[in-house]
Amino acid sequence: MNLTLDFAGKTVVVVGGTSGINRGVAEGFAAAGAKVAVASRNPEKVADTVKALEAAGAEVAMGTSFDVRDPVGVAEGLASFQAKLGDFDVLVSGAAGNFPALMSEMSNNAFKTVVDIDLMGTVHVMKAAYPFLRRPGASVISISAPQAYLPCEGQVHVCAAKAGVDQITRTLAMEWGHEGIRINSVVPGFIEETEGAERLAPTDEAKAATMAAIPLNRFGTKADIAGMCLFLSSPLASYVSGTVIAVDGALYQGGLGMLSQQLGTMLRQVAGR
Ligand code: NAP
Ligand code: COA
Repeated sequence: MNLTLDFAGKTVVVVGGTSGINRGVAEGFAAAGAKVAVASRNPEKVADTVKALEAAGAEVAMGTSFDVRDPVGVAEGLASFQAKLGDFDVLVSGAAGNFPALMSEMSNNAFKTVVDIDLMGTVHVMKAAYPFLRRPGASVISISAPQAYLPCEGQVHVCAAKAGVDQITRTLAMEWGHEGIRINSVVPGFIEETEGAERLAPTDEAKAATMAAIPLNRFGTKADIAGMCLFLSSPLASYVSGTVIAVDGALYQGGLGMLSQQLGTMLRQVAGR
């Protein structure tokens, strides 16, 4: 068995791959020699990431801008990747939006915005990528979140949206498995130096309380998530599909209790409830 994770000659597309965890994933595939394409809304972030991917060792790096809420833009963007790089060996769908807010203080549009980005964005990406996925052999990964299966105060919109993302993973594993396409969700825990982590635990006090809920006693790194995505897309994982894999230092074993209470208390104080 070849145990080296060599992605030379492979085409890897990372949607939402221009910052944080997803950019770490894109850079991981670049370092393994892949042809890597990234997309997100901000063209400056895209351009900066393409340069970083080249520096990291990508055989080819490219990028484009679109909003995952726009199915036409997503379809055009993914078609431009396929035209230049060929069919996709790996697709990572990770674009997401999050802000802490209580349901009682959130407009319908606020809830819908997160569902539109996280859940409908996933639908748009999956549907647009489907014709371009290599058969057999493609590895599709959705970047999910613990909120998909752990309720958390101040996160009702994310809980609902990411639960939907994981059910898409499980269902498409059945529909697409017949064509030799594998699909899995990767669930990052609390990943240091990321926008998501800063939004949910912005203070040292909040970070310390969150740390107390992580049995492995450290925050996750972008490299931890990249490693799981590389593994899932390698021959080592050729019989793994339809799974939701937590990379979270066992955070979920204790639930989101501490983080949930913290967010709920903080948000109720602000709302005067
Ligand atoms: P981040 O740095 O804000 O990354 C989000 C990425 O998605 C960026 O590249 C952003 O680029 C893009 N994006 C956002 N909205 C988009 C839209 N409407 N259309 C297209 N692209 C869009 O956040 P992160 O904290 O690293 O989170 C990355 C993923 O990990 C998310 O799926 C999140 O739910 C998941 N996650 C994070 C944590 C954590 O600890 N951070 C924990 C669990 C799960 P533009 O601004 O250019 O659009
Ligand atoms: N609390 C309550 N409501 C909020 C909010 C908050 N902190 N932030 C935004 N909203 C509401 C807005 O008021 C608006 O509702 P309204 O029309 O009823 O007033 C709705 O959400 C949409 O906000 P808007 O700013 O127009 O959305 P956008 O499409 O420009 O941006 C977000 C999307 C809000 C998710 C933005 O935070 C974003 O782009 N996030 C991407 C990065 C990120 O979240 N990273 C973390 C990891 S997922």
